[in-house]
Amino acid sequence: MQITFADTLPTDATLIAHVVDRDSLPGTLERTLSEGAKANRFRGTPGQVSEGYVERDGKVRRVALAGAGAADADEREANLEKAGAALAGKYLCSGETALALDLSTGDLSAEQAAAVLLGLRLRAWRWDEYRTMQKDEQKKTLSTVTVVGAPDGTREAWTTAAAVAEGVEFARELVTEPANILYPESFVERCRERLEGTGVEIVVLDDAEMEKLGMGALLGVGQGSAKPSRILAMRLTGGAQGEKPVAFVGKGVTFDSGGISIKPGAGMEDMKWDMGGAAVVAGSMVALAKRGAKANVVGICGLVENMPDGNAQRPGDVVTTMSGQTVEVINTDAEGRLVLADVLHWCQKTYQPQRIVDFATLTGAMLIALGHEQAGLFSNDDALADDLLSAGRQTGDKMWRMPIGPAYDKLIDSPIADMKNVGPRVAGSITAAQFLQRFILDSTPWAHCDIAGMAWSDKPGRTWDKGATGYGVRLVDRFVRDTLES
Ligand code: BES
Ligand code: ZN
Ligand code: ZN
Repeated sequence: MQITFADTLPTDATLIAHVVDRDSLPGTLERTLSEGAKANRFRGTPGQVSEGYVERDGKVRRVALAGAGAADADEREANLEKAGAALAGKYLCSGETALALDLSTGDLSAEQAAAVLLGLRLRAWRWDEYRTMQKDEQKKTLSTVTVVGAPDGTREAWTTAAAVAEGVEFARELVTEPANILYPESFVERCRERLEGTGVEIVVLDDAEMEKLGMGALLGVGQGSAKPSRILAMRLTGGAQGEKPVAFVGKGVTFDSGGISIKPGAGMEDMKWDMGGAAVVAGSMVALAKRGAKANVVGICGLVENMPDGNAQRPGDVVTTMSGQTVEVINTDAEGRLVLADVLHWCQKTYQPQRIVDFATLTGAMLIALGHEQAGLFSNDDALADDLLSAGRQTGDKMWRMPIGPAYDKLIDSPIADMKNVGPRVAGSITAAQFLQRFILDSTPWAHCDIAGMAWSDKPGRTWDKGATGYGVRLVDRFVRDTLES
Protein backbone atom coordinates (compact mmCIF):
# COMPACT_ATOMS: atom_id res chain seq x y z
CA MET A 1 0.00 0.00 0.00
CA GLN A 2 1.49 3.27 -1.11
CA ILE A 3 0.44 6.28 0.95
CA THR A 4 1.11 9.79 -0.38
CA PHE A 5 0.01 13.31 0.52
CA ALA A 6 -1.51 15.98 -1.73
CA ASP A 7 -2.97 19.49 -1.37
CA THR A 8 -6.14 18.87 -3.34
CA LEU A 9 -8.27 15.88 -4.23
CA PRO A 10 -7.13 14.18 -7.44
CA THR A 11 -9.67 15.24 -10.08
CA ASP A 12 -10.09 11.66 -11.31
CA ALA A 13 -10.74 10.21 -7.83
CA THR A 14 -13.56 7.68 -8.05
CA LEU A 15 -13.37 6.59 -4.43
CA ILE A 16 -13.27 9.26 -1.73
CA ALA A 17 -13.37 8.59 2.01
CA HIS A 18 -14.07 10.74 5.05
CA VAL A 19 -13.52 9.91 8.70
CA VAL A 20 -16.63 10.70 10.73
CA ASP A 21 -16.92 10.96 14.51
CA ARG A 22 -19.92 9.56 16.31
CA ASP A 23 -23.16 11.39 15.45
CA SER A 24 -21.41 14.17 13.59
CA LEU A 25 -21.84 13.97 9.85
CA PRO A 26 -19.97 16.85 8.17
CA GLY A 27 -22.40 19.61 7.16
CA THR A 28 -20.73 19.99 3.78
CA LEU A 29 -21.82 16.55 2.53
CA GLU A 30 -24.33 16.29 -0.30
CA ARG A 31 -27.86 15.45 0.86
CA THR A 32 -27.83 12.07 -0.87
CA LEU A 33 -24.83 11.10 1.26
CA SER A 34 -26.13 12.34 4.59
CA GLU A 35 -29.64 10.97 4.01
CA GLY A 36 -28.10 7.76 2.70
CA ALA A 37 -25.97 7.46 5.83
CA LYS A 38 -29.08 7.78 7.98
CA ALA A 39 -30.87 5.16 5.88
CA ASN A 40 -27.84 2.88 6.40
CA ARG A 41 -28.15 3.46 10.16
CA PHE A 42 -24.66 4.93 10.09
CA ARG A 43 -23.83 6.68 13.35
CA GLY A 44 -20.05 6.81 13.12
CA THR A 45 -19.30 3.99 15.53
CA PRO A 46 -15.69 2.76 15.24
CA GLY A 47 -15.23 0.63 12.13
CA GLN A 48 -18.68 1.34 10.67
CA VAL A 49 -18.68 2.28 6.96
CA SER A 50 -21.47 3.87 4.92
CA GLU A 51 -21.19 4.17 1.18
CA GLY A 52 -23.00 6.41 -1.28
CA TYR A 53 -22.66 7.84 -4.76
CA VAL A 54 -22.69 11.49 -5.78
CA GLU A 55 -22.00 13.46 -8.90
CA ARG A 56 -19.23 16.02 -8.52
CA ASP A 57 -17.71 17.98 -11.41
CA GLY A 58 -19.58 15.86 -13.91
CA LYS A 59 -18.26 12.58 -12.59
CA VAL A 60 -19.95 9.95 -10.44
CA ARG A 61 -17.91 9.39 -7.27
CA ARG A 62 -18.21 6.69 -4.69
CA VAL A 63 -17.97 8.26 -1.22
CA ALA A 64 -17.29 6.24 1.92
CA LEU A 65 -17.85 7.48 5.45
CA ALA A 66 -15.76 5.65 8.05
CA GLY A 67 -16.87 5.83 11.67
CA ALA A 68 -14.31 6.74 14.35
CA GLY A 69 -16.46 6.87 17.51
CA ALA A 70 -16.63 9.68 20.05
CA ALA A 71 -14.02 12.43 19.70
CA ASP A 72 -13.23 12.26 23.43
CA ALA A 73 -13.06 8.47 23.75
CA ASP A 74 -10.19 7.04 25.85
CA GLU A 75 -9.33 4.64 23.07
CA ARG A 76 -9.42 7.40 20.44
CA GLU A 77 -6.33 6.28 18.50
CA ALA A 78 -7.42 2.64 18.44
CA ASN A 79 -10.80 3.81 17.13
CA LEU A 80 -9.15 5.87 14.40
CA GLU A 81 -7.10 2.83 13.41
CA LYS A 82 -10.35 0.91 13.18
CA ALA A 83 -11.77 3.56 10.84
CA GLY A 84 -8.74 3.23 8.54
CA ALA A 85 -8.80 -0.55 8.80
CA ALA A 86 -12.49 -0.70 7.92
CA LEU A 87 -11.81 1.21 4.70
CA ALA A 88 -9.03 -1.19 3.76
CA GLY A 89 -11.18 -4.21 4.61
CA LYS A 90 -14.05 -2.95 2.47
CA TYR A 91 -12.15 -1.75 -0.59
CA LEU A 92 -9.06 -3.97 -0.76
CA CYS A 93 -10.57 -6.25 -3.42
CA SER A 94 -13.32 -3.91 -4.61
CA GLY A 95 -11.83 -3.25 -8.02
CA GLU A 96 -10.86 0.28 -6.94
CA THR A 97 -7.12 0.87 -7.23
CA ALA A 98 -6.87 4.25 -5.51
CA LEU A 99 -8.49 5.79 -2.48
CA ALA A 100 -8.57 9.53 -1.82
CA LEU A 101 -8.77 10.08 1.92
CA ASP A 102 -10.14 13.53 2.67
CA LEU A 103 -9.26 14.48 6.24
CA SER A 104 -10.28 18.13 5.85
CA THR A 105 -13.75 17.42 7.22
CA GLY A 106 -12.42 16.11 10.55
CA ASP A 107 -10.56 17.73 13.41
CA LEU A 108 -7.63 15.39 13.93
CA SER A 109 -4.13 15.93 15.27
CA ALA A 110 -1.17 14.73 13.20
CA GLU A 111 -0.81 11.66 15.44
CA GLN A 112 -4.47 10.86 15.08
CA ALA A 113 -4.31 11.23 11.29
CA ALA A 114 -1.32 8.86 11.30
CA ALA A 115 -3.39 6.39 13.33
CA VAL A 116 -6.01 6.28 10.54
CA LEU A 117 -3.25 5.57 8.02
CA LEU A 118 -1.67 2.93 10.22
CA GLY A 119 -4.98 1.09 10.52
CA LEU A 120 -5.46 1.32 6.77
CA ARG A 121 -2.01 -0.01 5.93
CA LEU A 122 -1.99 -2.82 8.50
CA ARG A 123 -5.43 -4.11 7.52
CA ALA A 124 -4.42 -4.10 3.84
CA TRP A 125 -1.48 -6.46 4.38
CA ARG A 126 -1.80 -9.90 2.82
CA TRP A 127 0.69 -12.57 1.82
CA ASP A 128 -0.30 -13.72 -1.67
CA GLU A 129 3.11 -15.13 -2.59
CA TYR A 130 1.87 -18.68 -3.15
CA ARG A 131 -1.52 -17.98 -4.72
CA THR A 132 -1.25 -18.31 -8.49
CA MET A 133 -4.89 -19.01 -9.35
CA GLN A 134 -6.84 -16.23 -7.66
CA LYS A 135 -10.10 -15.17 -9.27
CA ASP A 136 -10.36 -11.49 -10.14
CA GLU A 137 -12.65 -10.75 -7.24
CA GLN A 138 -10.13 -12.29 -4.82
CA LYS A 139 -7.24 -10.20 -6.06
CA LYS A 140 -6.03 -7.19 -4.16
CA THR A 141 -6.78 -4.09 -6.22
CA LEU A 142 -6.37 -1.13 -3.88
CA SER A 143 -2.74 -0.05 -4.03
CA THR A 144 -2.55 3.69 -3.39
CA VAL A 145 -3.99 6.11 -0.87
CA THR A 146 -3.78 9.86 -1.45
CA VAL A 147 -4.31 11.87 1.71
CA VAL A 148 -5.64 15.41 1.41
CA GLY A 149 -6.43 17.94 4.10
CA ALA A 150 -4.07 16.28 6.56
CA PRO A 151 -3.19 18.36 9.62
CA ASP A 152 0.31 19.88 9.89
CA GLY A 153 2.92 17.36 10.95
CA THR A 154 1.08 14.32 9.57
CA ARG A 155 3.90 13.49 7.15
CA GLU A 156 6.42 13.31 10.00
CA ALA A 157 4.04 11.34 12.22
CA TRP A 158 3.44 8.96 9.34
CA THR A 159 7.16 8.43 8.67
CA THR A 160 7.47 7.07 12.21
CA ALA A 161 4.23 5.08 12.08
CA ALA A 162 5.20 3.60 8.70
CA ALA A 163 8.42 2.21 10.21
CA VAL A 164 6.36 0.53 12.90
CA ALA A 165 3.99 -0.79 10.23
CA GLU A 166 6.95 -2.29 8.40
CA GLY A 167 7.99 -4.07 11.60
CA VAL A 168 4.49 -5.46 12.13
CA GLU A 169 4.34 -6.62 8.51
CA PHE A 170 7.75 -8.25 8.75
CA ALA A 171 6.65 -10.18 11.84
CA ARG A 172 3.53 -11.32 9.97
CA GLU A 173 5.59 -12.40 6.99
CA LEU A 174 7.85 -14.56 9.18
CA VAL A 175 4.86 -16.11 10.94
CA THR A 176 3.05 -16.79 7.66
CA GLU A 177 5.91 -18.46 5.81
CA PRO A 178 5.70 -22.27 5.93
CA ALA A 179 8.39 -24.31 7.63
CA ASN A 180 9.88 -25.68 4.40
CA ILE A 181 10.73 -22.09 3.45
CA LEU A 182 11.45 -20.59 6.87
CA TYR A 183 13.82 -22.60 9.05
CA PRO A 184 16.61 -21.40 11.33
CA GLU A 185 19.12 -20.50 8.60
CA SER A 186 16.59 -18.86 6.26
CA PHE A 187 15.06 -16.95 9.21
CA VAL A 188 18.49 -15.45 9.85
CA GLU A 189 18.93 -14.54 6.17
CA ARG A 190 15.52 -12.79 5.99
CA CYS A 191 16.45 -10.68 9.01
CA ARG A 192 19.87 -9.87 7.61
CA GLU A 193 18.34 -8.66 4.33
CA ARG A 194 15.65 -6.63 6.02
CA LEU A 195 18.05 -4.94 8.44
CA GLU A 196 20.74 -4.20 5.89
CA GLY A 197 21.90 -0.60 6.02
CA THR A 198 20.12 0.19 9.30
CA GLY A 199 23.23 -0.04 11.46
CA VAL A 200 21.86 -2.97 13.44
CA GLU A 201 24.76 -5.26 14.31
CA ILE A 202 24.07 -8.96 13.74
CA VAL A 203 25.68 -11.90 15.51
CA VAL A 204 24.83 -15.51 14.63
CA LEU A 205 25.79 -18.66 16.56
CA ASP A 206 25.83 -22.02 14.76
CA ASP A 207 25.64 -25.53 16.22
CA ALA A 208 29.40 -25.82 16.77
CA GLU A 209 29.57 -22.52 18.65
CA MET A 210 26.55 -23.41 20.77
CA GLU A 211 28.11 -26.81 21.49
CA LYS A 212 31.24 -25.06 22.75
CA LEU A 213 29.13 -22.85 24.99
CA GLY A 214 27.44 -25.93 26.46
CA MET A 215 23.91 -25.20 25.26
CA GLY A 216 22.69 -28.76 25.75
CA ALA A 217 19.02 -27.78 26.14
CA LEU A 218 18.67 -25.83 22.89
CA LEU A 219 20.77 -28.32 20.93
CA GLY A 220 18.81 -31.24 22.36
CA VAL A 221 15.63 -29.83 20.81
CA GLY A 222 17.27 -29.35 17.41
CA GLN A 223 19.05 -32.70 17.27
CA GLY A 224 16.11 -34.57 15.73
CA SER A 225 15.94 -32.21 12.77
CA ALA A 226 17.89 -32.19 9.51
CA LYS A 227 18.01 -28.40 9.79
CA PRO A 228 20.83 -26.93 11.87
CA SER A 229 19.91 -24.60 14.77
CA ARG A 230 20.89 -20.95 15.15
CA ILE A 231 20.91 -18.12 17.65
CA LEU A 232 20.41 -14.71 16.07
CA ALA A 233 21.28 -11.53 17.98
CA MET A 234 20.42 -8.09 16.58
CA ARG A 235 21.82 -5.09 18.38
CA LEU A 236 20.73 -1.48 18.05
CA THR A 237 22.89 1.16 19.72
CA GLY A 238 20.87 4.34 19.34
CA GLY A 239 21.00 5.29 23.02
CA ALA A 240 23.63 6.71 25.37
CA GLN A 241 27.05 5.15 25.02
CA GLY A 242 27.76 2.60 27.73
CA GLU A 243 24.14 2.33 28.86
CA LYS A 244 23.10 -1.29 29.30
CA PRO A 245 20.62 -2.52 26.72
CA VAL A 246 17.12 -3.81 27.20
CA ALA A 247 16.94 -7.34 25.79
CA PHE A 248 14.05 -8.91 23.93
CA VAL A 249 14.26 -12.68 23.55
CA GLY A 250 12.04 -14.80 21.28
CA LYS A 251 11.13 -18.47 20.96
CA GLY A 252 11.83 -19.39 17.36
CA VAL A 253 10.73 -22.98 16.87
CA THR A 254 10.31 -22.88 13.09
CA PHE A 255 8.25 -26.07 13.27
CA ASP A 256 7.06 -27.88 16.39
CA SER A 257 6.05 -31.44 15.57
CA GLY A 258 6.33 -32.23 19.27
CA GLY A 259 9.40 -34.41 18.60
CA ILE A 260 9.18 -37.99 19.93
CA SER A 261 6.25 -36.82 22.11
CA ILE A 262 4.64 -36.16 18.75
CA LYS A 263 1.55 -33.99 18.45
CA PRO A 264 -1.75 -35.27 17.01
CA GLY A 265 -2.07 -34.71 13.24
CA ALA A 266 -5.13 -32.46 13.27
CA GLY A 267 -3.99 -28.86 13.33
CA MET A 268 -0.29 -29.68 13.40
CA GLU A 269 0.22 -27.30 10.47
CA ASP A 270 -0.37 -24.46 12.93
CA MET A 271 3.00 -25.21 14.45
CA LYS A 272 4.72 -23.41 11.59
CA TRP A 273 3.98 -20.32 13.66
CA ASP A 274 5.72 -21.61 16.77
CA MET A 275 8.40 -19.03 15.93
CA GLY A 276 5.93 -16.23 16.70
CA GLY A 277 8.00 -14.97 19.64
CA ALA A 278 11.10 -14.69 17.46
CA ALA A 279 8.98 -12.86 14.86
CA VAL A 280 7.94 -10.29 17.49
CA VAL A 281 11.60 -9.73 18.30
CA ALA A 282 12.71 -9.47 14.65
CA GLY A 283 9.76 -7.26 13.69
CA SER A 284 10.42 -5.00 16.67
CA MET A 285 14.07 -4.59 15.70
CA VAL A 286 12.97 -3.59 12.18
CA ALA A 287 10.48 -1.06 13.60
CA LEU A 288 12.98 0.42 16.07
CA ALA A 289 15.86 0.56 13.61
CA LYS A 290 13.81 2.05 10.79
CA ARG A 291 12.29 4.78 12.91
CA GLY A 292 15.74 5.54 14.34
CA ALA A 293 14.94 4.74 17.97
CA LYS A 294 17.29 6.47 20.41
CA ALA A 295 17.70 3.40 22.56
CA ASN A 296 20.09 0.56 23.29
CA VAL A 297 18.25 -2.64 22.53
CA VAL A 298 19.26 -6.18 21.72
CA GLY A 299 16.87 -8.69 20.14
CA ILE A 300 17.75 -12.38 20.37
CA CYS A 301 16.03 -15.30 18.66
CA GLY A 302 16.51 -18.96 19.58
CA LEU A 303 15.92 -20.78 16.28
CA VAL A 304 15.38 -24.56 16.09
CA GLU A 305 13.14 -27.11 14.44
CA ASN A 306 11.58 -29.75 16.73
CA MET A 307 11.45 -33.05 14.78
CA PRO A 308 11.41 -36.77 15.63
CA ASP A 309 14.19 -38.52 13.67
CA GLY A 310 16.42 -41.37 14.85
CA ASN A 311 18.76 -38.93 16.52
CA ALA A 312 15.96 -37.07 18.32
CA GLN A 313 16.04 -36.69 22.08
CA ARG A 314 13.87 -39.09 24.06
CA PRO A 315 11.50 -38.56 26.97
CA GLY A 316 13.62 -39.21 30.06
CA ASP A 317 16.84 -37.83 28.59
CA VAL A 318 18.79 -35.52 30.88
CA VAL A 319 20.42 -32.46 29.28
CA THR A 320 22.87 -29.95 30.71
CA THR A 321 22.10 -26.30 30.02
CA MET A 322 24.67 -23.55 29.48
CA SER A 323 23.94 -22.35 33.03
CA GLY A 324 25.14 -25.73 34.35
CA GLN A 325 21.68 -26.67 35.61
CA THR A 326 20.41 -30.06 34.41
CA VAL A 327 16.95 -30.85 33.03
CA GLU A 328 15.05 -34.11 32.77
CA VAL A 329 13.15 -33.96 29.48
CA ILE A 330 9.82 -35.57 30.39
CA ASN A 331 8.04 -34.38 27.27
CA THR A 332 9.88 -33.40 24.09
CA ASP A 333 6.91 -31.22 23.13
CA ALA A 334 7.72 -28.82 25.96
CA GLU A 335 10.66 -27.63 23.85
CA GLY A 336 10.22 -23.86 23.86
CA ARG A 337 11.37 -23.53 27.46
CA LEU A 338 14.44 -25.66 26.72
CA VAL A 339 15.40 -23.34 23.88
CA LEU A 340 14.77 -20.22 25.94
CA ALA A 341 16.71 -21.55 28.93
CA ASP A 342 19.97 -21.42 26.99
CA VAL A 343 19.15 -18.23 25.08
CA LEU A 344 18.18 -16.36 28.27
CA HIS A 345 21.39 -17.45 29.99
CA TRP A 346 23.58 -16.55 27.01
CA CYS A 347 21.81 -13.20 26.68
CA GLN A 348 22.59 -12.25 30.28
CA LYS A 349 26.21 -13.40 30.11
CA THR A 350 26.84 -11.64 26.80
CA TYR A 351 24.93 -8.36 27.11
CA GLN A 352 24.32 -7.75 30.87
CA PRO A 353 20.89 -6.32 30.02
CA GLN A 354 19.17 -3.93 32.45
CA ARG A 355 15.85 -5.67 31.74
CA ILE A 356 14.81 -8.78 29.79
CA VAL A 357 11.46 -9.42 28.12
CA ASP A 358 10.82 -12.72 26.35
CA PHE A 359 8.06 -13.56 23.88
CA ALA A 360 6.99 -17.13 23.20
CA THR A 361 4.12 -19.22 21.87
CA LEU A 362 4.91 -21.33 24.89
CA THR A 363 1.84 -23.20 26.12
CA GLY A 364 -1.52 -24.40 24.87
CA ALA A 365 -2.73 -23.76 28.43
CA MET A 366 -2.40 -20.02 27.78
CA LEU A 367 -5.16 -20.27 25.17
CA ILE A 368 -7.34 -22.08 27.64
CA ALA A 369 -6.81 -19.34 30.23
CA LEU A 370 -7.04 -16.13 28.16
CA GLY A 371 -8.26 -17.15 24.70
CA HIS A 372 -7.30 -14.86 21.84
CA GLU A 373 -7.87 -11.56 23.64
CA GLN A 374 -4.74 -11.01 25.70
CA ALA A 375 -1.28 -12.48 26.17
CA GLY A 376 -0.21 -13.79 29.57
CA LEU A 377 2.41 -11.71 31.37
CA PHE A 378 4.66 -13.22 34.04
CA SER A 379 7.28 -11.13 35.81
CA ASN A 380 9.59 -10.94 38.81
CA ASP A 381 9.41 -7.13 38.77
CA ASP A 382 6.29 -5.00 39.30
CA ALA A 383 7.64 -1.86 37.62
CA LEU A 384 8.59 -3.79 34.49
CA ALA A 385 5.22 -5.54 34.43
CA ASP A 386 3.41 -2.20 34.78
CA ASP A 387 5.42 -0.67 31.92
CA LEU A 388 4.45 -3.57 29.66
CA LEU A 389 0.80 -3.49 30.70
CA SER A 390 0.70 0.23 29.94
CA ALA A 391 2.25 -0.25 26.49
CA GLY A 392 -0.31 -2.97 25.86
CA ARG A 393 -3.23 -0.75 26.80
CA GLN A 394 -1.98 2.07 24.59
CA THR A 395 -1.43 -0.04 21.48
CA GLY A 396 -4.25 -2.56 21.81
CA ASP A 397 -1.70 -5.41 22.13
CA LYS A 398 -3.22 -6.32 25.48
CA MET A 399 -1.76 -8.47 28.25
CA TRP A 400 -2.96 -9.82 31.56
CA ARG A 401 -0.64 -10.40 34.50
CA MET A 402 -0.45 -13.96 35.79
CA PRO A 403 1.04 -15.15 39.11
CA ILE A 404 4.37 -16.86 39.76
CA GLY A 405 5.90 -18.01 43.05
CA PRO A 406 7.73 -20.71 45.02
CA ALA A 407 4.70 -23.00 45.39
CA TYR A 408 4.47 -23.25 41.60
CA ASP A 409 8.23 -23.54 41.23
CA LYS A 410 8.29 -26.68 43.38
CA LEU A 411 6.10 -28.44 40.83
CA ILE A 412 9.00 -28.80 38.38
CA ASP A 413 11.51 -30.42 40.76
CA SER A 414 12.86 -33.70 39.34
CA PRO A 415 13.99 -36.85 41.16
CA ILE A 416 16.98 -37.30 38.82
CA ALA A 417 18.03 -33.80 37.68
CA ASP A 418 17.76 -30.20 38.89
CA MET A 419 14.36 -29.83 37.26
CA LYS A 420 12.01 -31.44 34.78
CA ASN A 421 10.63 -29.69 31.73
CA VAL A 422 6.95 -30.18 32.57
CA GLY A 423 4.88 -29.96 35.74
CA PRO A 424 1.50 -31.56 36.44
CA ARG A 425 -1.47 -30.89 34.15
CA VAL A 426 -2.67 -27.93 36.21
CA ALA A 427 -1.19 -24.42 35.93
CA GLY A 428 0.70 -25.35 32.76
CA SER A 429 1.49 -21.79 31.68
CA ILE A 430 2.73 -20.86 35.14
CA THR A 431 5.05 -23.84 35.56
CA ALA A 432 6.47 -23.02 32.11
CA ALA A 433 7.21 -19.48 33.37
CA GLN A 434 8.76 -20.91 36.55
CA PHE A 435 11.05 -23.00 34.39
CA LEU A 436 12.25 -19.89 32.53
CA GLN A 437 12.75 -17.98 35.78
CA ARG A 438 15.28 -20.57 36.92
CA PHE A 439 17.55 -19.19 34.18
CA ILE A 440 17.32 -15.55 35.24
CA LEU A 441 20.43 -14.44 37.14
CA ASP A 442 20.44 -12.40 40.38
CA SER A 443 16.92 -11.09 40.04
CA THR A 444 17.50 -9.23 36.77
CA PRO A 445 14.11 -7.63 36.02
CA TRP A 446 12.50 -10.12 33.68
CA ALA A 447 9.13 -10.55 32.03
CA HIS A 448 7.78 -13.46 30.03
CA CYS A 449 4.95 -12.96 27.53
CA ASP A 450 3.13 -16.13 26.53
CA ILE A 451 1.60 -15.19 23.16
CA ALA A 452 0.32 -18.66 22.19
CA GLY A 453 -3.21 -17.27 21.66
CA MET A 454 -2.15 -14.05 19.93
CA ALA A 455 0.25 -14.72 17.06
CA TRP A 456 -2.37 -16.18 14.75
CA SER A 457 -6.06 -15.45 14.25
CA ASP A 458 -8.70 -17.56 12.53
CA LYS A 459 -10.80 -14.49 11.79
CA PRO A 460 -10.18 -10.86 10.78
CA GLY A 461 -9.59 -8.50 13.71
CA ARG A 462 -9.06 -4.84 14.57
CA THR A 463 -6.20 -4.21 12.12
CA TRP A 464 -5.52 -7.62 10.64
CA ASP A 465 -7.05 -10.11 8.25
CA LYS A 466 -7.25 -13.74 9.33
CA GLY A 467 -3.78 -15.25 9.74
CA ALA A 468 -0.69 -13.69 11.29
CA THR A 469 -1.56 -10.72 13.51
CA GLY A 470 1.83 -9.12 14.18
CA TYR A 471 0.84 -8.94 17.85
CA GLY A 472 3.65 -7.66 20.06
CA VAL A 473 5.64 -5.41 17.71
CA ARG A 474 3.65 -2.30 18.54
CA LEU A 475 3.77 -3.21 22.19
CA VAL A 476 7.58 -3.38 22.12
CA ASP A 477 7.82 -0.16 20.12
CA ARG A 478 5.62 1.70 22.62
CA PHE A 479 7.44 0.17 25.60
CA VAL A 480 10.80 1.34 24.20
CA ARG A 481 9.46 4.85 23.54
CA ASP A 482 7.98 5.21 27.00
CA THR A 483 10.79 3.63 29.02
CA LEU A 484 13.97 4.43 27.07
CA GLU A 485 13.25 7.45 24.91
CA SER A 486 11.24 9.87 27.04
N1 BES B 1 4.21 -24.65 20.85
C1 BES B 1 3.51 -25.34 21.84
C2 BES B 1 2.45 -24.49 22.53
C3 BES B 1 1.29 -24.06 21.68
C4 BES B 1 0.19 -24.90 21.54
C5 BES B 1 1.27 -22.83 21.08
C6 BES B 1 -0.88 -24.49 20.77
C7 BES B 1 0.20 -22.41 20.33
C8 BES B 1 -0.89 -23.26 20.17
C9 BES B 1 4.47 -25.85 22.91
O1 BES B 1 5.74 -26.17 22.49
C10 BES B 1 3.87 -27.09 23.48
O2 BES B 1 3.71 -28.03 22.75
N2 BES B 1 3.53 -27.05 24.76
C11 BES B 1 2.91 -28.14 25.42
C12 BES B 1 3.53 -28.27 26.78
C13 BES B 1 3.14 -29.53 27.49
C14 BES B 1 3.77 -30.72 26.83
C15 BES B 1 3.59 -29.42 28.93
C16 BES B 1 1.43 -27.83 25.53
O3 BES B 1 1.08 -26.68 25.77
O4 BES B 1 0.63 -28.75 25.35
ZN1 ZN C 1 5.89 -28.16 21.75
ZN1 ZN D 1 6.39 -25.15 20.79
